[in-house]
Amino acid sequence: MLSFPQLILPKTIGHRGARAYAPENTLAGIRVAADQGARWVEVDVKLSRDGVAILMHDDDVDRTTDGQGAVASMDFAELRKLDAGVRFGPDFAGERIPTLEETLALVFELDLGINLEIKPCPGREVETARVTLEVARAMWPADRPPPLISSFEVPSLETARDVAPDWPRGYLIDRRPDDWSAIADRIAATTININQSREDADTIADYLATGRPVLAYTVNDPVKAQALVALGVSSVFTDRPRDILPVLGD
Ligand code: G3P
Ligand code: MG
Repeated sequence: MLSFPQLILPKTIGHRGARAYAPENTLAGIRVAADQGARWVEVDVKLSRDGVAILMHDDDVDRTTDGQGAVASMDFAELRKLDAGVRFGPDFAGERIPTLEETLALVFELDLGINLEIKPCPGREVETARVTLEVARAMWPADRPPPLISSFEVPSLETARDVAPDWPRGYLIDRRPDDWSAIADRIAATTININQSREDADTIADYLATGRPVLAYTVNDPVKAQALVALGVSSVFTDRPRDILPVLGD
C-alpha cells in the first residue's frame, strides 16, 4: 500500500492559465482562468540568468513575447521589459512576464489552487527546483492546502522531494520510460501526469494500479475529457476552462 500526502484535486485545471483565451503564463491569463470558473491553474516556472523564478514555458522568449533570445541568457531586468501579451492579441499588450512571487500573490488573492510545473532551462534542473520551492515555501500560508509540484525532469523532482517532502509531487510523463514505475516510487510521486495523446485505457490502468491519481494534459475537447474521466483520470489540464468546466465540473 502506498501512502501519500493529502491532495484534493479539481477535475479541471487551467493550463498555463487559460491558454486559448489569454496569453499563457501571465497574470492576465490566471485572471481569465478564474473568471471562467477554474479553481486551479497550472504554470511553468523557470529561472532568469540571474536566478529569478518567472513563468515561461519555452527556453527562449521568441514565441510568447516581442523579444528574442534564450531565457537562460537574459537577466530578469531584461526579461521584464518584454511584452508577454501583445503576440496573443492587442487587448493584452503591455502584459509582463510575471515572477513566481507575483503569481502566488495573485493565486492567493483569487483563492485558486496551483500546480507549479518546474520547467528548467537545460542544466538548471536542481537550481530551478530549489528556487521555486524556496520562493513558494517562504510565501505559503500555513492554513492553505499546498501546491502540486510537478516536472518532467527527474532531478527536479528529486530536489523537490528532498526540499519539500511534505508537498505533493506530480511525475510528468511524455513518452513513458521503461522504468517509469521505479521513478515514480523513487521520487515518491503523489500523482502521475500523462500526455493524453500517447496513452490508452491499458496504460492508464497501469498508472492507476500504482494507487496514484492520474492527471492528463492537454485536453481541450469536452468529449475526450469525459472519456478520460471514464477511464479513471482525476483531472485534466485544459487551455479552455470555459469549455471543459460545464462537462467535468470544477
Ligand atoms: O503540466 C502539464 C503540462 O503543462 C505539461 O506540458 O509542455 O504544456 O508544460 P507542457
Ligand atoms: Mg506545463
